[in-house]
Amino acid sequence: MTLQGLALPQVPAPAGRRAGPPSAPASVHAAGRMLDSHGRAIRDLRLSLTDRCNFRCTYCMEPDVRFAAPESLLQAGDFVRVARVAAGLGVTKIRLTGGEPTLHPHLLQVIAGIRIHTACEIAITTNGATLDRPSLRAWKAAGLDRVTISLDSLRTERFTRITRSNGTPARVLAAIDDCVAEGLGPVKVNAVLVRGVNDDEAADLAALARRPGVEMRFIEWMPLDSGHAWEPDRWVSAAETRAAIERRFPLVPLAGDDPSSTARTFAFADGTPGRVGFVAPVSSPFCGACSRLRITADGMVRPCLFSTREFDLRPLLGHGASDSAVARFLVDATWTKQAGHGIHTPEFRQPDRPMSAIGG
Ligand code: 5AD
Ligand code: SF4
Repeated sequence: MTLQGLALPQVPAPAGRRAGPPSAPASVHAAGRMLDSHGRAIRDLRLSLTDRCNFRCTYCMEPDVRFAAPESLLQAGDFVRVARVAAGLGVTKIRLTGGEPTLHPHLLQVIAGIRIHTACEIAITTNGATLDRPSLRAWKAAGLDRVTISLDSLRTERFTRITRSNGTPARVLAAIDDCVAEGLGPVKVNAVLVRGVNDDEAADLAALARRPGVEMRFIEWMPLDSGHAWEPDRWVSAAETRAAIERRFPLVPLAGDDPSSTARTFAFADGTPGRVGFVAPVSSPFCGACSRLRITADGMVRPCLFSTREFDLRPLLGHGASDSAVARFLVDATWTKQAGHGIHTPEFRQPDRPMSAIGG
């Protein structure tokens, strides 16, 4: 059945509020899972705890980006509740994202709440700028399972230029080691390469995977930056990145990648332990196996990173709605999930909401 076939007549939302999703078929509600109209089920929930960040990475945010008003943000308890309801609908993995989720004042409570109420794997994606051993230990004790850290350059001056911050790669490398030491590995390290900026560092960054407990992942730059600076000429494909790495470190594909996983992973041909992954949403879209649903810090359910429609959960959460009403909302929103991002179609339009306000 097509989405158009299911769409209800559009009733304008009351001023200041956006309409909820149209109803999914009764059979979908009866299944008690988040299913979409293309046969996919949601197992991976991404909660963006804040759109704020202490970096302003050039491929992500403009220096003067405006953040959401604090009063528009979900409370820590709302995130826990949504996680609990989603777990009841079949979610098994929860990733806390941002912006920079470690800036959230109640991160510990969010982790602990999700751990108490669900058996989901809990991961976090961070830029690693402010991690310290005591916080990592506390998050681990509260229930955090794994950490993913972004690192786009190993050269201090270049790192500063890319992140527009006073952070350093040395600090991030220390954070990676701390995560491994605190049992929060394997640590996935994400790099986004941009031509003429850091594309000459592919092999140097890949070498990080030769450290114990680290998996290096190269993510293709997507047109989701707040400055709309993405352009094909500056974009670097996973194939090109892999070729650059293989000039120094020949790679062999690893069998057994989970089809819904975003990364295709490789081992070093010389037998050194370590994994290098390529996340290629632009050159090899993996939308067909997508199992992800995203909730933004301001309570919008986004069925796809590239959704141009999003659905506001706040009226429900703020007005004492029952868990079953929240579940119904999530099931309805999921049913609208688009088949794919459509980056290569003539109708493609970059969503208004940048990656930093969606969550990775
Ligand atoms: N395209 C691809 N990856 C991006 N990230 C942030 N913006 C983009 C973009 N436009 C990455 C960050 C982080 C992860 C969550 O997403 O570097 O590692
Ligand atoms: Fe912050 Fe991540 Fe965006 Fe960099 S990529 S500005 S660390 S949200």
